[in-house]
Amino acid sequence: MPRAIIVGSGSEIAGNLVTNEMLSRVLDTNDAWIRERSGVETRYYVNPGTSTSDLGVAAAERAIENSGVAREEIDLIISATMTPDYYFPGNSGIYQTRLGLRQVPCFDIRQQCAAFLYGLQLADAHIRSGLAKTILLVAAEVHTGFMPFSPQGWDVIHGRDPGPIPPAEFEWNSRFRHLLVLFGDGAASVVIKAHEGEDRGIVETIVRGDGKELDKLYVPGTGFKFRPYTGPDQLAAGSHIPVMDGKLVFKMATTKMIEVATEVMQKHGVSVADLSLVLMHQANKRINEYCAKQLGVPPEKVIHNIERYGNTTAATIPLLYDEAARTGRVKKGDLILMVAFGAGMNWGATLLRA
Ligand code: ACO
Repeated sequence: MPRAIIVGSGSEIAGNLVTNEMLSRVLDTNDAWIRERSGVETRYYVNPGTSTSDLGVAAAERAIENSGVAREEIDLIISATMTPDYYFPGNSGIYQTRLGLRQVPCFDIRQQCAAFLYGLQLADAHIRSGLAKTILLVAAEVHTGFMPFSPQGWDVIHGRDPGPIPPAEFEWNSRFRHLLVLFGDGAASVVIKAHEGEDRGIVETIVRGDGKELDKLYVPGTGFKFRPYTGPDQLAAGSHIPVMDGKLVFKMATTKMIEVATEVMQKHGVSVADLSLVLMHQANKRINEYCAKQLGVPPEKVIHNIERYGNTTAATIPLLYDEAARTGRVKKGDLILMVAFGAGMNWGATLLRA
């Protein structure tokens, strides 16, 4: 049975650097709080008009080039995002056309921060079953679309106005401060190929989901539960903006990430000493430090980029992978553990023999 190996990766970060200090000019926060509670120091936002697929296309171009795979070889496209360009259809067909790929199966998955691992499992299943041989997986997010900064707030963030902003705007922005400081825009992509032999490839991905806490991290408005599905009342109420119970998510993330990482390692007789690298979803540095400690993973095996990019949802793990691969931290035969948790709630872990 063929195994799924990652043969190339690429990434793209949005163009505008946004520091914690810049955010503190438009909402009630400060650099020390954000660093200590989340680990985020900077993040990047796109310009208005730049979409998730713009970042995804750039990342995928680099992944394809890095893989050495010919475009005609790609026989499946998977898009992972919670911020697609349009309500429907999803972004996979946009990638097919803009990247000049063949008319192959294109589908989209919506598993938020765990989406990349769900995507890896689907890619692995397609390869093991013989349904596909060369797969493009694109994980991309533009969160700025749901960021409710006031008009002058955006001017400050984009450097057009030094501030201060009117008190009513400051107050509105501050309503969402626990959420706004965490996210950034970015994309990363991998090319996955069938490999004959058991020496390399995805060993296994275990993914799980549980909807009972859905309303602790979700967007309450702009859905087809409403008629019309979006409108001025929803915008005025802010129900197009995610709701997040940070404490519950934090607790659930640490519990489930430790649980699923342990499960996949035990199932395959792997110990922490066998791992070369651990790539964890970048939602909060404290979540990852706690998980690493409980799992007994030494800090040198865990890499982070939340300091620079914030939480890029589906893109965090492939971004880490791409950076690690390009800086020589991924060597053939290395055993890599990936772990994620996010809205849904969805979570999972992948063991990959590089
Ligand atoms: N700046 C300053 N103060 C703030 C900010 C801010 N940006 N945000 C909240 N605070 C205040 C709160 O109002 C509160 O003040 P109070 O004590 O006077 O009431 C205080 O800081 C503590 O707030 P908590 O919410 O208790 O802070 P906590 O330590 O829990 O950190 C955080 C909040 C960072 C959101 C954390 O809970 C977290 O990271 N949770 C997990 C998030 C996550 O994993 N999300 C999943 C990924 S997203 C996805 O899947 C789409």
